[in-house]
Amino acid sequence: MKLKFTRRTFIKRAIYALLSLEVVYIFYSLLGKKKDGDVVDGWFDAGNINFFENNKVYPFGSAHFYLSRLEDGGMLAISIHCTHLGCAVQFNQNKDRFVCPCHASAFNKHGEVLSPPATRALDIFPISIRDNKVLVNINNPIRRDKYEASQLTYV
Ligand code: FES
Repeated sequence: MKLKFTRRTFIKRAIYALLSLEVVYIFYSLLGKKKDGDVVDGWFDAGNINFFENNKVYPFGSAHFYLSRLEDGGMLAISIHCTHLGCAVQFNQNKDRFVCPCHASAFNKHGEVLSPPATRALDIFPISIRDNKVLVNINNPIRRDKYEASQLTYV
């Protein structure tokens, strides 16, 4: 059997082959590229440090924490789980506090109890700053009774 290629057929096939390689390259490039929200070895990439303004709270519901950046730039990654019975607390911007929808416990921006029935502060997660990225270790919640300044992470 004899295969016969015309010049036109050859060029067409060469173009298809190059396009296929390009698609495969783009696909693998996207797979290997890290972005905000990625989790590597338990460390959640919350994004660039410059994004987080002082005295604000940022929700990361999919990773079950709030990033609380305090007045002096210190940061806490605060668990969304209420220490009473585990409901997801919500940050109330107007009242400047976390409020639990289940039994009305409230916590300040440090995660300290403002009103019961919860009796201890919200758990926190370790934070690490690498290449200006805020990384939160979502696999290792830290149980605490109260807030202490040593729990803050600074750039
Ligand atoms: S679960 Fe939050 S107050 Fe009860």
